[in-house]
Amino acid sequence: MSKKITIAIDGHSSTGKSTVAKQLAKELGYIYVDSGAMYRAVTLYAMRKLFVSDTNFDKESIIRHLPFINVKFIFDDELGYGEIYLNDENVEKEIRLLEVSQQVSKVAAIPQVRKKLVKLQQEMGKDKGVVMDGRDIGTVVFPDADLKLFMTASTERRAQRRYKELKERGDEITLDEVLTNVKERDHMDTTRDDSPLLKADDAIEIDNSLLDLEEQYEKVLKLAKDKIEAD
Ligand code: DC
Repeated sequence: MSKKITIAIDGHSSTGKSTVAKQLAKELGYIYVDSGAMYRAVTLYAMRKLFVSDTNFDKESIIRHLPFINVKFIFDDELGYGEIYLNDENVEKEIRLLEVSQQVSKVAAIPQVRKKLVKLQQEMGKDKGVVMDGRDIGTVVFPDADLKLFMTASTERRAQRRYKELKERGDEITLDEVLTNVKERDHMDTTRDDSPLLKADDAIEIDNSLLDLEEQYEKVLKLAKDKIEAD
């Protein structure tokens, strides 16, 4: 049997990271972990229970509630990957709403939230055979990951992709609103004090502005297979 490796995929939002990571995990028979979904689930809790919004944000109350926030993935055989549960409720759809995207960077900047989720992520990946995507996987969660990828694309390209996805789901939204959100999140994710989005020194950068998802996936699959077969 070939050896199992840890694959960290970091990068900006809406670069197609999750789609590629999910497909790759399925092909390799690995666990897929969408770490962004975990930050989104904590944010959803904070919005529902603590009424976090553009005008209301109490960091201390979020920290106090952390022991009551249980986030986990439950594997779905049909889908071939896990869906996210917040305190035993499947919130996979709700966490993708733009309202949640608008609040998530603030919640993800709280060190205590990061500490809790990083610990869970490290436990999920302890046996290797994992593809995890996020912002700090190659730098903080698995600094010794066997393969680190960093995905990026122009802001406009990413906003267009996200807009198309949200429209297909039936969301009432304009391209301008999506573009503003993508820019705001980039700013907050790259300038926060704790674990900002950063390319690890040993990560391979993939700029997919000019690649479609298929081409991007082929590139990533080859890198993963080469790594598994190496040594
Ligand atoms: O990948 P995503 O867009 O679903 O992530 C949602 C937010 O969570 C994003 O704005 C940044 C944050 N995040 C993070 O801080 N660290 C991670 N490992 C993953 C996501």
